[in-house]
Amino acid sequence: MPGDKSISHRSLMLGALAVGETRVTGLLEGEDVLATAAALRAMGATIERDTSGDGGAEWRIHGVGVGGLLQPAGALEMGNSGTSARLLMGLVASHPITCAFTGDASLSRRPMGRVIEPLSLMGADFTASPGANGAATLPLMERGLNPAVPIAYRLPVASAQVKSALLLAALNTAGITRVIEPVPTRDHSERMLRGFGADLWIEEQKGERVIALRGEAELRPQTIVVPGDPSSAAFFVVAALLVPGSDLVIENVGLNPTRAALFTVLRQMGGSIEELDPREVGGEPVADLRVRHGALEGITVDPALAPAMIDEFPVLFVAAALARGRTVTSGLEELRVKESDRLAAMAAALRLAGARVEERADGLAIEGTGGDPLPGTPSGAEVATRLDHRIAMSMAVAGLASHAGVTIDDATPIATSFPAFEALLDAAGGADAGARRP
Ligand code: S3P
Repeated sequence: MPGDKSISHRSLMLGALAVGETRVTGLLEGEDVLATAAALRAMGATIERDTSGDGGAEWRIHGVGVGGLLQPAGALEMGNSGTSARLLMGLVASHPITCAFTGDASLSRRPMGRVIEPLSLMGADFTASPGANGAATLPLMERGLNPAVPIAYRLPVASAQVKSALLLAALNTAGITRVIEPVPTRDHSERMLRGFGADLWIEEQKGERVIALRGEAELRPQTIVVPGDPSSAAFFVVAALLVPGSDLVIENVGLNPTRAALFTVLRQMGGSIEELDPREVGGEPVADLRVRHGALEGITVDPALAPAMIDEFPVLFVAAALARGRTVTSGLEELRVKESDRLAAMAAALRLAGARVEERADGLAIEGTGGDPLPGTPSGAEVATRLDHRIAMSMAVAGLASHAGVTIDDATPIATSFPAFEALLDAAGGADAGARRP
């Protein structure tokens, strides 16, 4: 599996703030991560890709030091990447610079108020575009403030992006910033900040996790190996479970507990997923996964697991469409503000492929086929991927488990997170199972 997207973004950002050379191998070279690299270069960091050594590319980052980001000459183009936009807005908030953030049509619809509100409390100033339902959206201008004001902030939504934006803003803010997290979300920022030498600690407060960071940090450059992305592995895990005869080993899968709940749910459904060679890579748990085809049973998915599999619901819905009986999900309002409205997009896509799906306000209820392939998309009809890589890849997996195949309107979004997807799918035998380019 290629490198983890979340960890790749963070390794570039923290490398850009350390003094000296950070080296990164296994970096995900998808469009989202490259957007982060371009923005950091525009703010003064030197970021180079070196292919001269053995193995894969090594990325070398010469940071500017905490507080050293420079005024960029032009707008920071974030493409499709919410993580780039929200985390970089955090970095800019405590620097005395003014930045314009722009994005594609999908990102320009996504809510930015969730970071604007707390970063404004720290002193940053924003002028955003008005979106639907009064939301603040891109394009926007942000004027950072230095010195910024440390705050204690309780996250109103379970969001690692909001948490991380605040921690990044806190790095250049004198005093202690606290982020109170009622529902734990992915903890890559905390792990990596500590790895770079930031003074960060976890407190408990009335059963809630509080992340505290003492600002005006000095970060020490690191050598980082990025573990493989469980969110990318998810497509192959579900494909192997659904396609008869499959017995697939997926190498290098990150299994941080704040990310790995899909595998728990698929096992609850009866899926055979074995962990081989458990090890630690870049401060994160990793294993190879051996996945074998087998019957799946529909279940009611515990909404408490949602934050630890928030990006995996589209492909879980595909697994549910082939399971025996009914799968019910709830508590998934956040899916409506991802790269697309993933509840609406997957309900429409799976129905087009012949699945029985009920869309609810906060989840989907899916009546599975009991293992029979889906009919597939009718001739001439195409699934709308809505600029969302995970809709495209999930429906490609649905195509493998269908009679007629699934046609999607646009495969280009896949390159935002997983440029090697099609080649790996072919290598895993997907071409034999029915995946074809028109
Ligand atoms: C991410 C956090 C999640 C996730 C996104 C990556 C991150 O978003 O959906 O793909 O790297 O912090 P939210 O913070 O909006 O839940």
